[in-house]
Amino acid sequence: TMKIATLTSGGDSAGMNAVVRAVVKAAILKGCEAWIVREGYEGLVRGNAEAESPPGYVPPSAHYSDFPPAATNIINNLRFGDGELLKDGTGDYASGRTLKGRYIVRVGWDDVRGWFTEGGTLIGTARSKEFRTREGRLAAAYNLIKEGIDALVVCGGDGSLTGADVFRAEWPQLIADLRAQGKISEDQVNKHSHLRIVGLVGSIDNDMSMTDLTIGAPTALHRICEAIDNINSTAFSHSRAFVLEVMGRHCGWLALLAGVAGGADFLFIPEQPPKCQPWEDEMCDAIQQHRQVGKRKTLVIVAEGAHDIDLKPIKAEYVKNILTDRLGLDTRVTTLGHTQRGGRPCAMDRILPTLQGFKAVEVLLDANPETPSYMIGIQENKITTVPLVEAVAMTKEVSTAIEKKDFEKAMRLRDPEFRE
Ligand code: F6P
Repeated sequence: TMKIATLTSGGDSAGMNAVVRAVVKAAILKGCEAWIVREGYEGLVRGNAEAESPPGYVPPSAHYSDFPPAATNIINNLRFGDGELLKDGTGDYASGRTLKGRYIVRVGWDDVRGWFTEGGTLIGTARSKEFRTREGRLAAAYNLIKEGIDALVVCGGDGSLTGADVFRAEWPQLIADLRAQGKISEDQVNKHSHLRIVGLVGSIDNDMSMTDLTIGAPTALHRICEAIDNINSTAFSHSRAFVLEVMGRHCGWLALLAGVAGGADFLFIPEQPPKCQPWEDEMCDAIQQHRQVGKRKTLVIVAEGAHDIDLKPIKAEYVKNILTDRLGLDTRVTTLGHTQRGGRPCAMDRILPTLQGFKAVEVLLDANPETPSYMIGIQENKITTVPLVEAVAMTKEVSTAIEKKDFEKAMRLRDPEFRE
């Protein structure tokens, strides 16, 4: 049987647990073993310590047999200072072995029950520095082979999937090195000759090319909309202006769509800085016009990665000062921060990962050395599989275009419908 492991990497996003749940269930349904890697690539690099249980360890069921098994599990983990709710095993909570020092663990059907409603990622995530080094990736390859993992599902954003692509490209060389160091056998070399890896895009930023939506983006957008609704009522009451800073890193999707869904007077996104210089005039003119026709409130949305056409950052505080000084508006800044990232996934962020998770397992089962590694996406309402290497390269093109101040190209790459 094939052993399929899932990890979540980079910034967490709503729907990552639904990914794990879907992959675990799909794997089991297809007769495979389901595994997870805790703490993203960091867990791959660390692998499993040789000792499985601390000395003198007594299974907690002996002490806590009257407690619900999940509570027992929590207590057990707290006792060993690990804090993880998961345990290794196959859905039998009472097995209660600690996870300390173990990052690559087998999971069962019951372990992931109900996970599609939970925010964040229950198996942990990290932005692993180690995995960015070749040494780290060598350790990761060794740990995967040592645990006999045949295939890897990576759910993460742009950076994490770029990492997945590097790992895949480097794999044959890593294997050769491990063999040369005598760490793996000839049999293991043959069994793991190529890395079966598939990417699922989990990110609130919606910044990946070749997919219409990333898992977590709809929920984050919804959070922003709710925040705007709240702000609107207080802004209206005082006839105030608000400058709202939203996340998205180098991508303006959250800011732009929040402007559409929540209503904004003006907004700043990295892909399309205001063309007029100085843009302060353009913004003030627009807002003054809105005020003149009777608007009592003003909302300006600033994407965290916003800049002007010379790539000079545009910051919320600066925008606030302009609105106060030039228009005499009573202005406040609200930075939404991580409230955008947390919390329960909306329906779309349960449906999308569930469909894509099942697709990922199919893709892994069909994979052979001749097929490329895939990224699972959604385009025009259909679940798609596109070569990972292409999606990663196309995403890079957007940031390159922005760096070169070719904003027209950046917008075209983000939105093929976009025309001047
Ligand atoms: O990529 C997701 C994201 O939330 C970005 O929107 C933001 O720039 C970044 O992560 C924040 O990272 P951290 O949580 O490490 O501060």
